[in-house]
Amino acid sequence: MPVITAPHAFNEGQLYVDLRPIFGRSLFLKCEGFNFAGSIKLKAAVEMVEAAEQDGLLSKDSVLIESSSGNLGVALSMIAASKGYRFLCVTDSRCNLSTRLLMEALGSEVHVIADLDANGGFLGARIDYVRALCASDQRYVWLSQYTNPGNWGAHYRRTAPEIARQFPRLDVLFVGAGTTGTLMGCARYFREWHRPVRIVAVDTVGSVAFGGAPGRRMIPGLGMSMRPPLLDESFVDEVIRVEEADTIRACHRLARRGFLFGGSTGTVVSGAMSWLAEHDERDLTAVAIAPDLGERYLDTIYQSTWLEDLYGDQVLDPKAKTAPEGLTTATRDAEPVPRTPDGRRKP
Ligand SMILES: Cc1ncc(COP(=O)(O)O)c(C=O)c1O
Repeated sequence: MPVITAPHAFNEGQLYVDLRPIFGRSLFLKCEGFNFAGSIKLKAAVEMVEAAEQDGLLSKDSVLIESSSGNLGVALSMIAASKGYRFLCVTDSRCNLSTRLLMEALGSEVHVIADLDANGGFLGARIDYVRALCASDQRYVWLSQYTNPGNWGAHYRRTAPEIARQFPRLDVLFVGAGTTGTLMGCARYFREWHRPVRIVAVDTVGSVAFGGAPGRRMIPGLGMSMRPPLLDESFVDEVIRVEEADTIRACHRLARRGFLFGGSTGTVVSGAMSWLAEHDERDLTAVAIAPDLGERYLDTIYQSTWLEDLYGDQVLDPKAKTAPEGLTTATRDAEPVPRTPDGRRKP
């Protein structure tokens, strides 16, 4: 019986859903939403705050500040409340209402940026805003998830070993990419592992994280409007991009079977199923990471008027299916990278 005194002391790391009954193809979905912050971002938040404490950056007057599309903001709100720090989250108008209310309920201040930056996203504008506040008052401590090594370190030390323990014969791992903290932590860990694991990054169409043209993105979590500073593509074997309409179809297909997941899970599942459909030559052991659950998306992905306004009234029509298995129109960037038996890239 786990008994805790701090909210971040509990984090379920061993729950997987096998998607075979729903999608007809085995994919083990690692559920990262079962903690008091409700998402995978709890791990990065704990790691970054504890590193700042160890480095002597935080005092009782400190105000933590961070740019977040939501989930990191909730995790930091929770940790700040538990440890007695103040926290200011700089987010944007794509942040779900319930996520913003959650942060405020936990005692945080939330500033919402509404102006798009030059890449058609909000990230540049959010970061400029954080920088200006930090310059104005030295009590602000910016953890900077986009550059902080604790962001990927959390997944190197926790997420990837959790997967490795349960799947000693893992063949392929699908990881959604935002800041790329999860992706880089897992990719670095499995590069050093005893057998090769194919690392497939899943991004959203319209994100410029791995290059490509910027475009409209309405679902928070995955995708970036700049190249992620943490990203080192030499650790990534393939990149697939998923249309938001396919994300939505995957989310609703899961929900119809009782699994209410967040948007980025729909993206990763859609991309992974499409990839697996193309690579079904042998029984692959495949794992994908589900970063959060669906309650925060009730007024967006799971609300019919929001869907119809943005994606048209056919978005959930089964006839809108476009790709193998009718799951995704994901585009693939790269051929699998040839590996030596110890997992390194072949020269
Ligand atoms: C729901 C959700 N999915 C995916 C991600 C991306 O994770 P990462 O920043 O580690 O790339 C995030 C990050 O905020 C998220 O909130």
